[in-house]
Amino acid sequence: MIIRKRSSLKGSMTVPGDKSISHRSVMLGALSEGITEVENFLMGDDCLSTISCFRRLGISIDNDIANKRVTIHGKGLDGLTAPNDVLDVGNSGTTIRILSGILCGQKFTSTITGDSSIRKRPMERILIPLRQMGADIADMNNDTFAPLFINSSSASLSAMQSNNFNHVLKGIHYISPVASAQVKSCVLFAGLYADSITTVTEPAISRNHTELMLSYFGASVNAEGTTVSVLPRPKLTGRRLSIPGDISSAAYFIAAALIVPNSELLIKNVGINPTRDGIINVCRMMGADIKLENIRNYGSEPVCDIYVRHSSLKGIEIGGDIIPTLIDEIPVIAVLSCFADGKTVIRNAEELKVKESNRLEVIVNNLSNMGADITATEDGMIINGGKPLHGAVIDSRMDHRIAMAFAIAGLAADGDTRILNPECVNISYPEFFKIL
Ligand code: S3P
Repeated sequence: MIIRKRSSLKGSMTVPGDKSISHRSVMLGALSEGITEVENFLMGDDCLSTISCFRRLGISIDNDIANKRVTIHGKGLDGLTAPNDVLDVGNSGTTIRILSGILCGQKFTSTITGDSSIRKRPMERILIPLRQMGADIADMNNDTFAPLFINSSSASLSAMQSNNFNHVLKGIHYISPVASAQVKSCVLFAGLYADSITTVTEPAISRNHTELMLSYFGASVNAEGTTVSVLPRPKLTGRRLSIPGDISSAAYFIAAALIVPNSELLIKNVGINPTRDGIINVCRMMGADIKLENIRNYGSEPVCDIYVRHSSLKGIEIGGDIIPTLIDEIPVIAVLSCFADGKTVIRNAEELKVKESNRLEVIVNNLSNMGADITATEDGMIINGGKPLHGAVIDSRMDHRIAMAFAIAGLAADGDTRILNPECVNISYPEFFKIL
């Protein structure tokens, strides 16, 4: 894919449904009784992987790709059935981490794995709390990586001793060393099958879609500050929901409008959950002309239309509790910083090293190749903005967020920017290049 410099971007657009919420809608729909109807589902490869795993677990799911509608025929908390093959999550970290929590609560044995990127991503962060809950979950090669093998036998024994439920885990209070919604959600979903309340405390609040949706489907959830608890064995009931546009996808177009001269975009129906809106705060701190209009609610999630214009930007410092609220936007924030006056420092972002690629390394290498003044640090990067970028060959490392962030950089760089393996955008935003 070749991207060339543009002199202006104008228009009104929408972005596809939120990836995190799309995943959770299938998971909660499957564990609920009755039908869950989802509108504006993200038909990206990651969410399709979640659908295919739940089909393999015996759930019937109708998937109307053209109309972005999904109907899940839920079978309740104990309705999943033994898969007849390995569960393959493809590239999806959210699927493997949260689904593992659910599988630990089942009466059957299962194996879960994914592509070569997934098999390099840390799973110890879920193995530790799940084992504390009494789960028998093994990393097949004893290396803390997938494939993971979940054995039902030990937990079935404790279930037989305690009551007549199929499979019972122990409720725990887990103090997570990392602000990760995937870890938190894994433990909370496992907590649905526990013998008592399950609580997670994290160092900073990560995205809270699981908490909001568990409540929406009928679970008893209590969230206070960085701590959230769920009571076991709720009766979950199928619901209708409409998924807001993904702010992580909108971020590319926000950045494009800011750095391409004479640009003006209206991006409609974007989710602005405060645990996800760090990109808006960063743009404002950088001096961007960005307005949130028509703020309203889609179920329990706030949504708005984002109006953004080309702006002169200034460098800022980004670190601390804001990091989890913009973790997936750091590649495109790094691009923005190259077009800002002065220095931008990004700290506390070591989680970037364990995403779909080592994003810290990949951002710094690719932006350096485009002529940016950028240095990697232990937990982030320092960018001295204002140096013009030039086109380069960008190795996306098959990481969707890298491919999209660098396509945006290419819109404001001199000469051709060639993105390798551009099809990786199918993970979260299949129409990205068409819309661009
Ligand atoms: C996600 C959580 C984040 C994020 C990922 C989606 C989720 O990961 O980077 O793209 O849906 O829960 P971590 O929980 O590892 O921070």
